[in-house]
Amino acid sequence: MCGIVGYIGNGNVYDVLIKGLHRLEYRGYDSAGVAMVSPEGKLKIYKARGKVENLEQYCKDKDLSGCVGIAHTRWATHGEPSDLNAHPHYSDDGRLALVHNGTIENYKVLKDALTQHGCKFHSETDTEVLVQLIEYIKVKNDCSLVDAVREALKQVVGAYAIAVLEKDNPDQIIAARKSSPLVIGIGEDEMFLASDATPFVEYTNEAVYLKDEEVAIIRRGEPLKIVSLENEESAIDVKTLEMGISQLEKGGYPHFMLKEIFEQPSTLLDCIRGRVVEGGRRIMLNGVQDNKEKFLGEKRIVIVACGTSWHAALLGKYLIQDMCRLPVEVEYASEFRYSNPVLDPSDLVIAISQSGETADTLAAIQIARGMGAFVYGISNVVGSSIPRATDSGTYIHVGPEIGVASTKAFTGQVMVLTMLAVSIAQLRGTMTSEQIAQIGSCILRIPRLVEDVLKLAPAIERLSLIYTYARNFLYLGRGYSYPVALEGALKLKEISYIHAEGYPAAEMKHGPIALIDAEMPSVIIAPDDHLYEKIVNNVQQVKARGGSIIAIVTEGDTVIRNIADHVLEVPRVPECLTPIITSIPLQLLSYYIAINKGKNVDMPRNLAKSVTVE
Ligand code: G6P
Repeated sequence: MCGIVGYIGNGNVYDVLIKGLHRLEYRGYDSAGVAMVSPEGKLKIYKARGKVENLEQYCKDKDLSGCVGIAHTRWATHGEPSDLNAHPHYSDDGRLALVHNGTIENYKVLKDALTQHGCKFHSETDTEVLVQLIEYIKVKNDCSLVDAVREALKQVVGAYAIAVLEKDNPDQIIAARKSSPLVIGIGEDEMFLASDATPFVEYTNEAVYLKDEEVAIIRRGEPLKIVSLENEESAIDVKTLEMGISQLEKGGYPHFMLKEIFEQPSTLLDCIRGRVVEGGRRIMLNGVQDNKEKFLGEKRIVIVACGTSWHAALLGKYLIQDMCRLPVEVEYASEFRYSNPVLDPSDLVIAISQSGETADTLAAIQIARGMGAFVYGISNVVGSSIPRATDSGTYIHVGPEIGVASTKAFTGQVMVLTMLAVSIAQLRGTMTSEQIAQIGSCILRIPRLVEDVLKLAPAIERLSLIYTYARNFLYLGRGYSYPVALEGALKLKEISYIHAEGYPAAEMKHGPIALIDAEMPSVIIAPDDHLYEKIVNNVQQVKARGGSIIAIVTEGDTVIRNIADHVLEVPRVPECLTPIITSIPLQLLSYYIAINKGKNVDMPRNLAKSVTVE
């Protein structure tokens, strides 16, 4: 995912663009760049690898005058993060500049054809193909920029939100979208465009959300015009942004936590974008192919993490063991660092941290590297300490998580671990191509299925009223559902301050079963997997002791439905993907119980989002 911004008006173009890039930085931090045209028709492009602040440094002594401009903050998919691969990209003749968010799937075919026509490429990106193609069509057909953009986009397969600037026409920006977001802000004598409204909300509250395959013609002194790829004019539907910046950041939700729960269809889409390719037949995760010998040579994997990330780590163990047939150990980073661990260079250590700043996880990484192990990091916050301290790694790309109780970061971590397990299995040959394709195609469907799971919210809100005043909860699961039980219990503890214990369902009979009575509800995670028959017995055992049961089951379930007091049905997915689907109803249950109790869900007492002390 990348962020794009554009501005045409009488304000300070460079300032508007840079401020906008900062707001969109959560979308990627690999590089940033701006392109501006001055009134006398000079096109200036400045780019820098890394965060937006690097670009600002680079631009300090540059000519920053301009009356129109576009800008970009990049999350690399095609081509490593570098100045060369940074956007904006420009056409061979230097007349056009373009920024892009998305991936062009048929870029290779287009690039080969353009090369045959004499085009010279300067970067490894899929994006450069777009700008070269537009320029090629413009010259060949001797047409306007908007017509060339329309024709070019008809040839493109993939996702795009683009903005194009023309040196010889400093009074316009042409923008278009398909599958990647783009919104236009309409101010007085000025217009903005951006990946979301945050870059312009302080200048205007009028916004037009571009639809798929629409092209916007944004001209100085003229009203916004939108046409289809076939050049049919669309009606302009202006929406009023009713919120100020702070509310907008909550996206209209009363709490960040609820917003982040409901964002999961799109955050999971961002997490898998560009990584699950060829319709699911291949998975490309940063740092795996380029460290092939490490992933092929390791004898054992050790995963270190804290809190919710540790629960994701435990799922990582199940996933990697299952798919890669490698032994995996999971350690609390705080325990690992003082446990006199035994590691050597044949071990691969995976460190997981949403914030990328957790002190214990950082210390565990240093110890592991000190012992010669190769450390692969999985983080959300780009440029944070953990990605910098590891040998290699990847990001979950779910955007800033502000609610202290982690929700979208957990599902992002589990998704990345699933993709990592499949990637390692691909290398090691421990899964057949059919098995990979089956999981890959289901990963692609997950964002859509999560939308269905979220429709349970009203039912869960009603259910929460029954259990708001319970003093203790038990969360039970087996196999892949055991870490989900741990995470469900943690969510409830964190924000409602109700004591909750997550337990492997079959272990319950060795202790916690003594606690069960009519006052102690059990949440049982029981999707239709290879342990289903076993967990049915555990459900019976709770029922026989008079405990009430809330069960998360696969849609169409008939057995547990007849035993449990309440069932929440989730869509059927392959077993390894059930945690993403079953954890979401538990997030909602905790949220609504905490709200019923009047708790501050975004800032629970005594907790912090980033724990930088031991
Ligand atoms: C804190 C947060 C948790 C998080 C844990 C680990 O306790 O409140 O939500 O899971 O730290 O944080 P990390 O950033 O390393 O994932």
